[in-house]
Amino acid sequence: MTLGPRPGPVRYLLFSASLRTGSLNARLAIAARTAIEAHGGTVDPSAMSDFDCPSYSQDAQAKGFPQGAEELRRRLDANDAFVIAAPEYNGSMPGALKNAIDWVSRFRPQPFNGKHALLLSASPSMAGGNRGLWALRVPLEHLGVRVYPDMFSLAQAHQAFDAQGQIANQQLGGRLDQTIAGFMDLAEAAKHYPCAKTAWVEFLGEHPDSPVDRVDKPRSE
Ligand SMILES: Cc1cc2nc3c(=O)[nH]c(=O)nc-3n(C[C@H](O)[C@H](O)[C@H](O)COP(=O)(O)O)c2cc1C
Repeated sequence: MTLGPRPGPVRYLLFSASLRTGSLNARLAIAARTAIEAHGGTVDPSAMSDFDCPSYSQDAQAKGFPQGAEELRRRLDANDAFVIAAPEYNGSMPGALKNAIDWVSRFRPQPFNGKHALLLSASPSMAGGNRGLWALRVPLEHLGVRVYPDMFSLAQAHQAFDAQGQIANQQLGGRLDQTIAGFMDLAEAAKHYPCAKTAWVEFLGEHPDSPVDRVDKPRSE
């Protein structure tokens, strides 16, 4: 009897959805990276500029996918879950992010399907860009992403970071850390539980019972 491969550490694609130099969301992404690594996750840090695409049209798609879309698909496939720190533009997500999502949604198999995601935002406003995250949920959930119920929005972000790039207010920093830890528990369970269950079924020499054993299949093992 050979048991299936043991799953490795959970890998997180992390990027800010801002194209701006000096982005507050890029700074929040750096703070998120520190927390993910402190909790044992592997981070694949990226930037929106890697995924920027010309405006989507089906005519353009007929000529081929742009490099930004190919790159976002590759990075989604290479990671188990993703974390986006997204600015709020006019109560919604930035157009560049929605455009990249639209492009990537046209690949088959559809790369977002079944991925776990955590949404973060930073804004100088008092609401921290939170409305934009509710808008971002809609296309992601439509595409089969398991969007973590809790989100983190950093209000007055232009004065929220200390000299080390971390959130200066301890209570707020703790809230980011707890949100990330909860998300990581879920992403880890989603990755490891099906492998553990497969190994156990093989160990017992039983055939899986599909009506009872409904779990997410590991995607990349
Ligand atoms: C076109 C545009 C629309 C904006 N709309 C909002 C908004 O609806 N809510 C908000 O909190 N901030 C809004 N802002 C301000 C952004 O939150 C602010 O510029 C922020 O720094 C952008 O994120 P970044 O620093 O990561 O680039 C808007 C900014 C721009 C350029």
